[in-house]
Amino acid sequence: MTNLPKDIERVIVDQSAIAERVSALAQKIDEEYADVESLYIVGILKGAFIFMSDLCRKLTTPHTVDFMALSSYGMRGANSGAVRIIMDLRENIANKHVLVVEDILDTGATLNYLTRTLGSRRPASLRTCVLLDKGRSEVETQVSYLGFQIPDVWVVGYGLDFAEQYRTLPYIAELNQAIRKKSA
Ligand code: PRP
Repeated sequence: MTNLPKDIERVIVDQSAIAERVSALAQKIDEEYADVESLYIVGILKGAFIFMSDLCRKLTTPHTVDFMALSSYGMRGANSGAVRIIMDLRENIANKHVLVVEDILDTGATLNYLTRTLGSRRPASLRTCVLLDKGRSEVETQVSYLGFQIPDVWVVGYGLDFAEQYRTLPYIAELNQAIRKKSA
């Protein structure tokens, strides 16, 4: 691919591969929730907003959407572990079939916190759909539906950012290491 933005090293997952995988994930979710009246989809802001909107529009299972925003001490890529809710769900999820949609599994702290916290609210079921896994999770996490296993590099695009930039790139790309070092 030509004309990549200057801080982008290479494309890791291109637009058509993303679209194909999102459709396949939606099909699998539809099959597994065939008997469910309604699914309660929880998108984790901000990174999951594009993945979630594409995934939801491919689902035929009736569903509603809600969002949570979390903050962790340090940022993606840093060792942290302490996560807190900065915007909670609008509704009580007791007895609902909940599907958490996340963009990336890095240390695993966010997903671990989410499954413990939402699990304690007594949903009828709780599953997770994660677009990217770097394979370096340090804590117990359960991913029910996974998009792609990727190398342990800083990725941007399709919702993911570096200092709030590059979220709307249509592909998932590796950030140039030099820009990270410059801003460290
Ligand atoms: C990112 C990403 C996940 C989390 C994953 O969020 O969206 O929620 O980090 O990292 P972990 O597995 O180490 O917990 P970030 O804090 O960058 O916020 P953002 O989604 O608003 O960009």
